[in-house]
Amino acid sequence: MRKKLAIIGGTGLTELEGLTIKETKDVSTPYGSPSSPLIVGELNGQEVIFLTRHGNPHRIAPHDVNYAANIYALKQEGVTAIIGVNAVGGIDAVMGPAHVVVPDQIIDYTHGRKNTFFEGEMDSVTHIDFSYPYTENLRQQLISAANQSDIAFSDFGVYGCTQGPRLETAAEIVRLERDGCDIVGMTGMPEAALACEQQMDYACLALVVNWGAGKTENIITMEEIEQSIESGMGYVKQILRDLIKPNFH
Ligand code: HPA
Repeated sequence: MRKKLAIIGGTGLTELEGLTIKETKDVSTPYGSPSSPLIVGELNGQEVIFLTRHGNPHRIAPHDVNYAANIYALKQEGVTAIIGVNAVGGIDAVMGPAHVVVPDQIIDYTHGRKNTFFEGEMDSVTHIDFSYPYTENLRQQLISAANQSDIAFSDFGVYGCTQGPRLETAAEIVRLERDGCDIVGMTGMPEAALACEQQMDYACLALVVNWGAGKTENIITMEEIEQSIESGMGYVKQILRDLIKPNFH
């Protein structure tokens, strides 16, 4: 079956050059409204749906994003595969600013977010398998796309998802590192799990925009993050353009 692809754009990715917009759809779901209208477009002859996770302009904080509405809105449109783009902090020594990571694992430290569709009265209690949270085939397609240009990237990594909106303490980053996390962000979960519950393929394309707290002598500033987004988001867009080719399926 041919994939119907959606991209959930994070901080710094509110539009995708080369995307011909065919329709902008305001939709609603039983879980509320998604973060932004769905942009239905075409890139390299492929239909793609684009959704901005924090709204456009950027206004919804990571802990306030209605992840369930976002995933359900895409499901309602018949989307079968999602690439979640996330800005993250780097923990592993090679994952510094402007490095791109296609993670293969997640540790979830979030709390108080709606993290399942399976609640209330149901016929039976459902536990999804989440051993390998990202869809390997989609991850491999991202990795092949990243290999087409000269981009510094890692094809594995553990994404530690924190609650935010504050950044971590230096001690928290030490703990995350001890736990095995390579990158840290605030928006990878529950998005990946909700997509899995809806039986949609899901992979993450993460851009490192700062060193994790305490990894350098400096504190983390918004200016530093914005500069890294400006220099690194071009890589993410290049990978997406190389992924979405006429033979993408
Ligand atoms: N921590 C958590 N989330 C982030 C960071 C970080 O250092 N940078 C970008 N998103």
